[in-house]
Amino acid sequence: MYIKNLPVIFRHSHDLSYIIRVNLFGNHCPANNRNGLSLPRKPTPGRHRLIMKIKDKSFKILITEDKLQDRIATLGKSINQDYKGKEPLFIGILNGSFMFVADIMKSITLPSEISFVKLASYKEMTSSGTVKELIGLNENLFGRHVIVLEDIIDSGLTITSVMEQIKERGAASVAVATLLLKPEALKVEVEIKYTGFEIGNEFVVGYGLDYDGLGRNTTAIYQLK
Ligand code: IMP
Ligand code: MG
Repeated sequence: MYIKNLPVIFRHSHDLSYIIRVNLFGNHCPANNRNGLSLPRKPTPGRHRLIMKIKDKSFKILITEDKLQDRIATLGKSINQDYKGKEPLFIGILNGSFMFVADIMKSITLPSEISFVKLASYKEMTSSGTVKELIGLNENLFGRHVIVLEDIIDSGLTITSVMEQIKERGAASVAVATLLLKPEALKVEVEIKYTGFEIGNEFVVGYGLDYDGLGRNTTAIYQLK
């Protein structure tokens, strides 16, 4: 009874309740944060479903939230090191990259700008697929170090077209950071500087990625069952 009440009593005191609760139940609590106590992430059971149904399809979990967040923070640190002394311009490709962009930017400590673009598809076909024009890019790219943030690279045609258009606008350098890569699906050679996870050819949803417009609003990534 007494233990049960503790969280309520201390809720507003730097969440002391949580520290006590964690310690009372003997969970690991490494001492390395500002207060000498590191709070583990809140318990995850029930936080994300293992199976998700969207319309006629069933999806099972592929990458958990914790794995995503750890990997994204690592990518962010690599970018901080590689671009030390520079002021990069990050360009997120909408819609799929919105969660990835939001999370990776939290670990970027460089002075940097962020912009988002969309791709408009045209019916006209070229040898490398449908022409996709970047829309919504108002920044002057001349002399800028651009880092394109993408949710997933499948055939590689989209990102190739994006990189070409950025180079045409006079960027000093263009690098790609993609959360997911399907190496076996690549149809063109693409230089990808930062990759979160390499996955198989399975269709995935969640954490920004959609199936028929749905399923973007999850903290984990799911694959078609
Ligand atoms: P690419 O041009 O074939 O590399 O396709 C890249 C785009 O296709 C991504 O930005 C996604 O919008 C979409 N896409 C590719 N694979 C998947 C998937 O497994 N789930 C959801 N969207 C995908
Ligand atoms: Mg995309």
